[in-house]
Amino acid sequence: MAHNILEVADLHLNYGQTRVLHGVSFEVPAASLLAIVGPNGAGKSSTLGAIAGGIPIASGTVRFDGHSIEALAPEAIARLGLSFVPEARHPFSSLTVEENLLIGSLMRRNRAMAASNLERVYGYFPRLRVRSRQPAGKLSGGEQQMLVIGRALMTSPRLMLIDEPSLGLAPKIVEEVYEMLRRIRDEAGVTIVVNEQSSRRVMKFAENILVLRDGRVQLRGTPATIDQGQALHHAYFGVGNFDSIGPRTEA
Ligand SMILES: Nc1ncnc2c1ncn2[C@@H]1O[C@H](COP(=O)(O)OP(=O)(O)OP(=O)(O)O)[C@@H](O)[C@H]1O
Ligand SMILES: [Mg+2]
Repeated sequence: MAHNILEVADLHLNYGQTRVLHGVSFEVPAASLLAIVGPNGAGKSSTLGAIAGGIPIASGTVRFDGHSIEALAPEAIARLGLSFVPEARHPFSSLTVEENLLIGSLMRRNRAMAASNLERVYGYFPRLRVRSRQPAGKLSGGEQQMLVIGRALMTSPRLMLIDEPSLGLAPKIVEEVYEMLRRIRDEAGVTIVVNEQSSRRVMKFAENILVLRDGRVQLRGTPATIDQGQALHHAYFGVGNFDSIGPRTEA
């Protein structure tokens, strides 16, 4: 059995007086993809932000690859090999695609490593190589998402947390982005956690699904077990009407 690269236990998180996570716990086996799904306000972004160190937690523990990281600063967590791509993250629009990819490495003066990482990113995202000299602002939404994922990959992370990678993208492009994430997981062994509002997009790519609602884990399982008996619909949509809470980005 694969070891868990990430272990989150009993996470509580408040914004001011309002508690938004009420004891969230889950584990992520190394080199797997976990999809955290749930409706608006479920606490998905707060969960990723708390793990990455950007949002202070009230209580709970987060272990990443054997390290307790719940009290560390985001930069220290990143140095351990955890890369966080927040929701609606954009590249620097006036810099070229390649400058966007290289900017972090150049600041760390690690040029040899940067060159090999750049090749690796272009290997995953051939469209970025084609567009490498163009300003990032000229890219399509899908290409911009690939670029921010590519930029996160430039740090050679062992764990990537990606908040809603399919936000605002056409279904065909979503498929393409997930195919790339699948390759990154399978070929480089990178563990990936994504947030999504709709489980449908990620079912065929994820090993494990975690359903969050109102700051609590409603359900966890594999796509196969969660599909059975429509359990997901109950957990995800409660007793409401499925159609009225459809995904917000698909026309
Ligand atoms: N900075 C903040 N200050 C106060 N409350 C916040 C803040 N950010 C989020 N919240 C609240 O915390 C709860 C969880 O929000 P969160 O953004 O984690 O949910 P989410 O599952 O990511 O939702 P979405 O699908 O809309 O991205 C919501 O009730 C939200 O209104
Ligand atoms: Mg969110």
